[in-house]
Amino acid sequence: MATVPARAVNRGAVVCCVGWLRLDMASGPTAAGRRRVATVSGSTPVAIAGRRGGPNVMTLRQDRWWIQPLTIFSILFAFVVYVTWAAFQNRNYYVGANYVHGARDLLSPLYSPCIAASCVPGSTHHVQLSWWNFSPALLILFIPGGFRLTCYYYRRSYYRAFWWSPPSCAVQDHHTRYSGETRFPLLLQNSHRYFFYLAFLVNIVLTYDAILAFSVDRGIGVTVGTIVLVVNAVLLWLYTLSCHACRHLCGGHVRSFSEHPVRQRLWKWVTPLNAKHMQIAWVSLIFVALTDVYVRLVASGAITDMKLF
Ligand code: FES
Repeated sequence: MATVPARAVNRGAVVCCVGWLRLDMASGPTAAGRRRVATVSGSTPVAIAGRRGGPNVMTLRQDRWWIQPLTIFSILFAFVVYVTWAAFQNRNYYVGANYVHGARDLLSPLYSPCIAASCVPGSTHHVQLSWWNFSPALLILFIPGGFRLTCYYYRRSYYRAFWWSPPSCAVQDHHTRYSGETRFPLLLQNSHRYFFYLAFLVNIVLTYDAILAFSVDRGIGVTVGTIVLVVNAVLLWLYTLSCHACRHLCGGHVRSFSEHPVRQRLWKWVTPLNAKHMQIAWVSLIFVALTDVYVRLVASGAITDMKLF
């Protein structure tokens, strides 16, 4: 029988998920040992049981652990609803050359690259798939969508927020079995590196869009829309270059960096970015939606794209 001070348990639980492991180890390595009941000071009985370990209470954490999964759920849910709505709109995604206030060539990132036959004149990227007459966004959104869906960071977030697997560190898992990502459909998460390659290409197109946004009054200028598209492109580059697959591409499978100085340099550049991947993921996600909102408002005539210089 292991007796663990409640404060120690709670502190360990908050710090890290392996807090339960420590408790488990304390009760012994055998199956029988894992089923023993440890007495947490006070008198909370903690059954060290269950196929996935952990006590028979939802959690011993006393902080507001649910705020993080609830926040993640709210943001991701709102984002998916908005993007789905915007993708089916099939209008107001492009501010073209005839825009009366002078600014031109603002294309929503949700519709870029615009390669469908249904793209409005001026918004296309010189390739048009004649057989696609639905919204252009529905044709290309699988790339950024798949990239984010299979992202290592987002996986952790939505596994917690949507599937409660587990909802947070040291909080009981709501599933009795766990097979990792070894079976369909989660096996498809391994496609992340391929989405990285596709997202890289899309970023090039979005950068091209941002450059075109400097075209103002038949010359070169800057509007609020120009800045919005440039910031969006920069954030998406940061998100893509901070990807774990990118870091692996730069420095993975290298036995000796001294023999691969270029790869070492690339690896050194992306590693600090990789450490900020979570923050960049959220900022870039929200800014993509805001960019679409801005282009949509200008294209619909609700606001004017103000010229700065
Ligand atoms: S984009 Fe997040 S890990 Fe690759």
